[in-house]
Amino acid sequence: MSERSRYLPRRTCLSIPGSSPKMLAKGPSLGADMVFLDLEDSVAPLEKEAARANVVSAINDNDWGDTVLCVRINAWDTKWTYQDVIHIVEQSGERLDELMLPKVQRASEVVALDLLLTQIEANTGRSRVGIEAQIETTMGLINVEEICAASPRLETIIFGPADFAASMEMPVLTGGVQIPEYPGDHFHYVFSKILMAGRAYGLQVIDGPFLKIRELDALRDYSMRTRILGYDGKWALHPDQVKVINEVFTPTQEQFDKALAILDAYKQATETDRKGAVMFGDEMIDEASRKMAVKFVTRGERAGMTRGTEG
Ligand code: GLV
Ligand code: MG
Repeated sequence: MSERSRYLPRRTCLSIPGSSPKMLAKGPSLGADMVFLDLEDSVAPLEKEAARANVVSAINDNDWGDTVLCVRINAWDTKWTYQDVIHIVEQSGERLDELMLPKVQRASEVVALDLLLTQIEANTGRSRVGIEAQIETTMGLINVEEICAASPRLETIIFGPADFAASMEMPVLTGGVQIPEYPGDHFHYVFSKILMAGRAYGLQVIDGPFLKIRELDALRDYSMRTRILGYDGKWALHPDQVKVINEVFTPTQEQFDKALAILDAYKQATETDRKGAVMFGDEMIDEASRKMAVKFVTRGERAGMTRGTEG
């Protein structure tokens, strides 16, 4: 893992095509916690090689502040992967936090990237580069547990709904949106499976893109599904999506204050009164409540929240 970015927030993960110097220049100012400069599917095959140079310049020349900075390379089933890795990692400065590997099907693909990175780091002396892995094929989902365990460099596991719908051969023409004809949530199993695997191995878990970029209310509604399940964040494909997703993945002030109050009450109960469970208002709280509260507080603090005045 990259020491800098492992625990940084990733409420919003903004995709920027590596073929667009104009969009790459705007990247740092769009309010996303994490930005990935894309060499994969938002870049046409004929632009792949030129995009590498654009991406290196954007990493080295822009001021990225605290943003988690990632490059999505091409998948191992293309001809571009090894040159993407060598070009980007050898030529980028320390500000590059991690690489994203798309369409991961087996743990060995993560191991191969880990080995290549290890050699580049040994040769250049640069600091460790983290890995984000995308699960977006049926084979990737079948192997998700082994994939999450494949390398200590892994920082996140990401669901890619568009490619996943294609891999499943679902009869839809837009991936990553609600299917009104389906009685329920067609991705519920997938969301839960990836979340459990990611959490079991201590990874951040991220939901992929919502492709109807002008439908911000529908985006808010759809993002709540993975937010409620426990995901850490979601992709944005357009700057307009960033604000909505940041809001969805940040606790409300009420939740944040309640979580702080639970931690105070639990500390008092266990450390002063020597009790494991105690009443908090009209509910009983215990160690599980503390764990849930810590998550809200950590997320809120990452978003810059402080205790409300009434707290
Ligand atoms: C993202 O890469 C997706 O395929 O949804
Ligand atoms: Mg994809």
